[in-house]
This record gives sequence, C-alpha cells and structure tokens, in this order.
Amino acid sequence: MEKEAKIFVAGHKGMVGSAIVRKLKKEGFNNLIVRSSSELDLRNQESVKGFFQEQKPDYVFLAAAKVGGIIANNSYRADFIYENLAIQNNVIHYAKEAGVKKLMFLGSSCIYPKLAPQPLKEEYLLTGPLEPTNEPYAIAKIAGIKMCDAYRDQYGCNFVSVMPTNLYGPNDNYDLQKSHVLPALLRKFHEAKEQGKDVVEVWGSGTPLREFLHVDDLADACVYLMQTYNEPGLVNIGVGEDISIKDLALLVKDIVGFEGELHFDATKPDGTPRKLMDVSKLHGLGWKARIGLRQGITEVYRQHFITETV
Ligand SMILES: NC(=O)c1ccc[n+]([C@@H]2O[C@H](COP(=O)([O-])OP(=O)(O)OC[C@H]3O[C@@H](n4cnc5c(N)ncnc54)[C@H](OP(=O)(O)O)[C@@H]3O)[C@@H](O)[C@H]2O)c1
Repeated sequence: MEKEAKIFVAGHKGMVGSAIVRKLKKEGFNNLIVRSSSELDLRNQESVKGFFQEQKPDYVFLAAAKVGGIIANNSYRADFIYENLAIQNNVIHYAKEAGVKKLMFLGSSCIYPKLAPQPLKEEYLLTGPLEPTNEPYAIAKIAGIKMCDAYRDQYGCNFVSVMPTNLYGPNDNYDLQKSHVLPALLRKFHEAKEQGKDVVEVWGSGTPLREFLHVDDLADACVYLMQTYNEPGLVNIGVGEDISIKDLALLVKDIVGFEGELHFDATKPDGTPRKLMDVSKLHGLGWKARIGLRQGITEVYRQHFITETV
C-alpha cells in the first residue's frame, strides 16, 4: 500500500475497524475514508454502489459486520445471517466494480466446524458441522470467504480473507447480553468489586479453552498481510496459545482485584469445547503476536474502567 493510497476502513467505529484506523494512521496512511452505519448503511445495495462509484477507494478493510456473543448470535439468528450476507455481498461486489486493488475480508475462528481437530488449521474450514448457536453467522462469514475467492478466480480480484481468533481491546462491547466472554468478565468483576459483592457468576462450566488476541496485535497483522499476502483461502490470526475460561476468570479477578468467590453457571451454554488457532501459516508469513494476555487485559481494564471513572 502506498502511503497516499485511498483506504476505506468499513466499520471504523467498531473494535477491529478502530484499531485498523489507529494502526494505519500510526504508519502514515492518512488518506482514509470512513463512514458510520448511519452515514452509509452497508446493507443497502444502492447506497454502497453509489459510495464506491463516487469514492473509488484503492484498498478496503471489511471490518463492518453484525457481531455478538453466544446469546446474541442464538437469539437474533435471522439478523445475523441477513445483515452479514448483505454487508459483505454489497461491499465485495462493488469493490470489484470500482476496481479496488485489494480487499481484506475478516472471518472469525468461531466459523470452523464445532468439533474440528485442534489447533485449527486453515484447511479445516467446511469439514464438519458448525456450532449450532452461531451457525447463521458462520454461514454468512464462510460465504464471504468463498466470495473473495470466487471474485479472485473469475475476475482476478486481489481479495484476501483473514481469520482472527477471539479479540479484546479498546472499543469492545460491555453489554452483558451481547458481549464476548472477556469483556463480560471484566465488567462483572469490576462491578462486583465496586458493589462489595461476595460472588461473581461466570457463564458455563469454566472448562472450555479459548485463545485471546489484543485487537492492536490484530490490526498490526491485518496491515502487515494487506501489504504482503496475495493468495486465495485464508490466514489464521491468533497467538497459538489458549486458556480455560476458569483460568481466564481467575486472571481477570486478579487484575481487577476482586476478593470474593467464583460460581460457574452450567445452565448457560459453553459453546465449542476448544478453540485454538494453528498459526504456523501466519508465522511462516513473518508475523507474530506481541501483546501478552496479562499485559493486554491490564491495559484494557485501566483504559475502560479506571480512566473512565476518574
Ligand atoms: N470481536 C471479536 O472478537 C472478533 C473476532 C474475530 C473476528 N471478528 C471480526 O471482525 C469484524 C469486526 O468486528 P468488531 O468486533 O470490530 O465488531 P463491532 O465492534 O461490533 O463493530 C462492527 C462495526 O460494523 C459496523 N456496521 C454494522 N452494521 C453495519 C451496517 N449495516 N452498515 C455499516 N456499518 C455497519 C458498525 O458501524 P457503526 O458503529 O457505525 O454502527 C461497527 O463499526 C467482524 O467481521 C467480525 O466477524 C471479530
């Protein structure tokens, strides 16, 4: 990417999009185009067509999507498949029409088959049944990856897909009904500490294993791959190490300084038993995560909960 290139970051107010914008600006890319969903609804075909015809971006990071945790994915199944398919269909198709030089589509580790062998290799996509709670979201995301490959095959578009693991960082969602596990734990422990509670309830059995990547590391990887990776298929982006939800809860408890007990609510769904990325392809391409989990969570806790309340 040339420093003066026109770069559209779709979803720039979200956790991933905002991190990509921070990274691009830090690297001296200043010709960025951004639109909130109220300015440009990416589900609307005519609006997206008009936007691409007028702006003709050189590069696109597609980080706009309808995203949520287990409960949101399972409760709004129709919205998750419809909105994500609409957004990606419009953006990928009109990016091609406008002659975009390169587009990066973001998948997610939760779209691998539920019982795929671990760690998850890129080739395990579409080799088995999906996790039922987020199947509509996964089907949409898989369609996005296949669409990028099909546009490469038929039209020669340099559209690439990356597969981030669970993320955390600034601009995360802390709404307990919609959030992912890590921000939910931070909020629960913080509030329990503030309110002097004795017990914090953690959803699920505590046994599932998960991997967490700081979103600034993800943005670093995305900008790196946008400059170096030009192949079909996908690239996992993760750290290559996982932690049980129980140990994660204990780590968050320690960082927050909550002194009470944990109670695991096994009536809430666990989701996939283990989700760890095989990051050998990414390492082979020359990129490795840098932000450790304790360091990253401590920074996020300070930024979101301590600075905000001072
Ligand atoms: N968070 C994770 O742990 C994680 C993990 C793996 C992959 N990913 C992937 O990363 C991408 C971004 O996730 P995120 O966590 O950054 O999500 P997020 O914080 O919820 O942000 C989503 C962004 O999408 C935009 N958006 C949603 N619907 C739109 C619409 N109809 N028109 C225009 N913009 C729309 C929103 O714009 P407004 O704010 O303007 O409404 C928002 O900025 C997704 O593709 C997701 O699958 C995320």
